[in-house]
Amino acid sequence: MKISDELAHAIASVTEVAAIAAYDWVGKQDKNAADLAAVEAMRNRLNEIDFQGKIVIGEGEIDDAPMLYIGETVGRQQSNSSLDIAVDPIDGTRMVACNEPNAIAVLAAAEAGSLLQAPDMYMEKLVVGQQAKGVVSLDNPLETNIKLLSSALNKPIEQLSISILDKPRHQHIIHRLRSQGVNVITMPDGDVLASLLAILPQHNIDMMYGIGGAPEGVISAVIAKALGGDMHSRLITRDQAKGNSLENQKFAEQERARCQQMGAEVGQILTLDNVVRSQNIMFAATAITPASPMAGIYNDLYVKTTETLLINGHNKSLKLIKNHYYQ
Ligand code: FBP
Repeated sequence: MKISDELAHAIASVTEVAAIAAYDWVGKQDKNAADLAAVEAMRNRLNEIDFQGKIVIGEGEIDDAPMLYIGETVGRQQSNSSLDIAVDPIDGTRMVACNEPNAIAVLAAAEAGSLLQAPDMYMEKLVVGQQAKGVVSLDNPLETNIKLLSSALNKPIEQLSISILDKPRHQHIIHRLRSQGVNVITMPDGDVLASLLAILPQHNIDMMYGIGGAPEGVISAVIAKALGGDMHSRLITRDQAKGNSLENQKFAEQERARCQQMGAEVGQILTLDNVVRSQNIMFAATAITPASPMAGIYNDLYVKTTETLLINGHNKSLKLIKNHYYQ
């Protein structure tokens, strides 16, 4: 089932309303309030659209009110268009709270049954654009991937740029990359945007690597699949990502049990086709704060302007939508 242009635009308006709602919280040092505003706006807008949607991966389980929870049905349910939804109402809640760049509202949709179903846990990700498709693998040591990337892109290692989240768990990797001569671009948060920039050929990031959220991973996989890029990933438990404390071990136990219920396997390398099994897919992101290639929300007394990126998998198209709301 092809996602019609009309439906894709309607779904893109979901990230737009979420970004507008979150914008009121920019710089207010309240991550939770920003998230709550974005979630409510998303849910309300999703439920106005004529389609049958199911959240297959997001940042909440059924009891985690008010999050859009895994298994939640959205949409007016009166249409034949059935879609899986992967959602992150704000990727970069901390950036909204602190008025820093690169906070976006994001969502991916795909033909029903075609997205990986997994709990909200961690995921190791290796993301590249089209020129390096099929070249790198999570099976390889990092150093091998760098060499393979360098020859696929016909660039010396010293000219490669690799982005990675600036987290304690990545410090040894950042060190290894730098000691190879790679230009390492660290971002405090937001690996959907980092993946997007690695996939888009016109940006100077050649690969995104690291451990981040699984919902963000599935959303990034949709971008890669839609635009002909590539991604390898692997579900990781909390103790592997954040240290072996008793609390993290308990979390990990629950994550393993939940994975089993959902048919997902911890630690197994997932190819792009394991995560996204259709080309009938779309991705939408609206910048809350400036997040190149999108400008952040511009607001004055008379007008609010949003920029939304809409990527459509069936025709591999990318569109930047600018909307002005007069107040
Ligand atoms: P949120 O804003 O949704 O919390 O996500 C920010 C983020 O940096 C993601 O981009 C990334 O996938 C994840 O957090 C990493 O998790 P953690 O901050 O726990 O290391």
